[in-house]
Amino acid sequence: MTPNDLRTQYIAFFFVRGHAELPSAPLVPENDPTTLFTGFGMQPLVPYLLGQPHPEGKRLVNSQKSFRSGDIEEVGDNRHTTFFEMLGNWSLGDYFKKEQLQWCFEFLTQTLELDPKKLFVTVFRGNDAVPRDTESVKIWKTLFSDVGMQAQDVDFSERDGMQNGRIFYYDEKKNWWSRSGVPSAMPTGEPGGPDSEVFYDFGAELGLHESSPYKNQPCHVNCDCGRFLEIGNSVFMQYQKQADGSFTELPQKNVDFGGGLERILAAVHDEPDIFKTEFFSDLRNKLLDGINKVIIDQTNPEYTKLTNTRESRVRIFLDHSRAVIFLMGEGIKPGKNEREYVVRRLIRRADDQLSILKLDHELYWKEAISHYKKVYKNVYSASWDQENILGIIINELRIYGTVFKNVEKIKIELIKLKEKFSPISLASTYAGPVLFHYQSTYGIPSTATLPLIEEVGLLPKYAFTSFNKEKAYHQEKSRTASKGMFKGGLADHSENVTKYHTATHLLHAALRKVLGEHVSQQGSNITGERLRFDFSHPTALTEEQKKKVEDMINEKIKEDLPVTQEMVSKDEALKQGAMAFFKEKYADTVSMYTIGKDLKKGWFSKELCGGPHVAHTGEIGPIKITKEESVGSGIRRIYVQFA
Ligand code: ALA
Repeated sequence: MTPNDLRTQYIAFFFVRGHAELPSAPLVPENDPTTLFTGFGMQPLVPYLLGQPHPEGKRLVNSQKSFRSGDIEEVGDNRHTTFFEMLGNWSLGDYFKKEQLQWCFEFLTQTLELDPKKLFVTVFRGNDAVPRDTESVKIWKTLFSDVGMQAQDVDFSERDGMQNGRIFYYDEKKNWWSRSGVPSAMPTGEPGGPDSEVFYDFGAELGLHESSPYKNQPCHVNCDCGRFLEIGNSVFMQYQKQADGSFTELPQKNVDFGGGLERILAAVHDEPDIFKTEFFSDLRNKLLDGINKVIIDQTNPEYTKLTNTRESRVRIFLDHSRAVIFLMGEGIKPGKNEREYVVRRLIRRADDQLSILKLDHELYWKEAISHYKKVYKNVYSASWDQENILGIIINELRIYGTVFKNVEKIKIELIKLKEKFSPISLASTYAGPVLFHYQSTYGIPSTATLPLIEEVGLLPKYAFTSFNKEKAYHQEKSRTASKGMFKGGLADHSENVTKYHTATHLLHAALRKVLGEHVSQQGSNITGERLRFDFSHPTALTEEQKKKVEDMINEKIKEDLPVTQEMVSKDEALKQGAMAFFKEKYADTVSMYTIGKDLKKGWFSKELCGGPHVAHTGEIGPIKITKEESVGSGIRRIYVQFA
């Protein structure tokens, strides 16, 4: 079975069970300030899980391109990737546990013919607010019994391991799902619920417990030794977090299922290493051939070192190069800011592996692009401009080359510090911040700093410990910052974000009226503090134009115009003059927001959009334009805040 077969079979399975297929949303979410990338299949569906009617109905299915930058450091084992496809099916207040678990089991054991004896499942053991999920246990027992198996349910116990169980109760750390994790971490308004995961067992011999958190403990489905692979998660999304910390039932009981396409394929092949599946195998073989040609002297100690680490280095290149190609395919170039920085980091990290493996850089980047173009042919790669992507990567590698010149600067800095501190205190306390500064600013990898530390006469062990301490400090800082970003976002429908979202529509319409119809939205980003809007226009706005736009928006706010939503056919929406700026293709029925509906005066703005919005423009309150600047040729960026 190929990746394409699996994707098609999954969609077809749910299609015949009444599900409408949705196109994959872009990796860069539109109008969603909560996150930099689409990381889950449900992400574009939040308003519908909360109760807004979906134009395609109550049963949905798709394969969603997903990217998780938080997993960059995890890549290297048999199963972690940053980019992946998530197969998903949803019930928006339609079917619930019984159908979901039955279809999930049927798809895995009948369509894909996975051996049910290799499947293990988990359910939620309950907490103060939400009861133990005995209902799912009952359903699972029946499903296993239908294939002649007696499935035992047991409470997970670290000490006792599997206990001959098939169905395991876990606490909220494992069997509660929301975008922000456990119930206490969820912001107000966020939906979530208990879930039930399916694991595939690759066999006991894989249990490498030395490196597992369950060291000296019996293996278990959630143990990360590599024996078990989670291949699907059915979330019963029926709760919403309230301001006082409690949970209430959502108006509808939803199902949100997600399963990694790469992982399910690995289970189908009974192959625990996802990098050996067709997604990667041809490119992997080319890299391994290249390595074998380069490292011919087997007596060289370097040879053993490389043999030990080459598998994980190859995986890092396979994963990162794929993510880079997908992200660049959506127009993100390597650079300094947010998403661009992620692409830069991926390119450099992937390229470090080529350096260490002594492989030709340009050749293997070229191989990677043509490999993935082939793998994703007829699915995603049609718009990928192979030459352009390669050109940008090569240019980025040139910039990366100049980074190494900065290594000399670190040396000088450390030597100066050496005069002040003893070698041990310099290495263990002061070297870390210096190394971290150069790594985060110039991307200087540890491969470049190690010889330097030795050259200056410091003990690498101490220097790296202090570097890691500094890095952990910064990671924690950025985690806190991204939590803040999440809280301020559209996801929790916070008041300010909703107001800014409606203000974006007013701004867009005002810009078109003042500057002309050539103005079109190129992107937007909203936080609780401001809105940012990119649009096409050749020159800077004059003070007069800015004032006109600002006045027009404030006038429309003062008029307290109604904001209404309708579900209409795509043709009807376009006929009415609605603006449509999403990158993904539209479904046949679309959600259209109109600001100001008046038989005589007509409307002020009409856009295809998923919401949410305020009900009347007066709720926004006066606004002001705080900044206007260029962000590339022909694109302007404007910032708006509450006045
Ligand atoms: N949204 C659920 C997940 O990502 C299905 O696991």
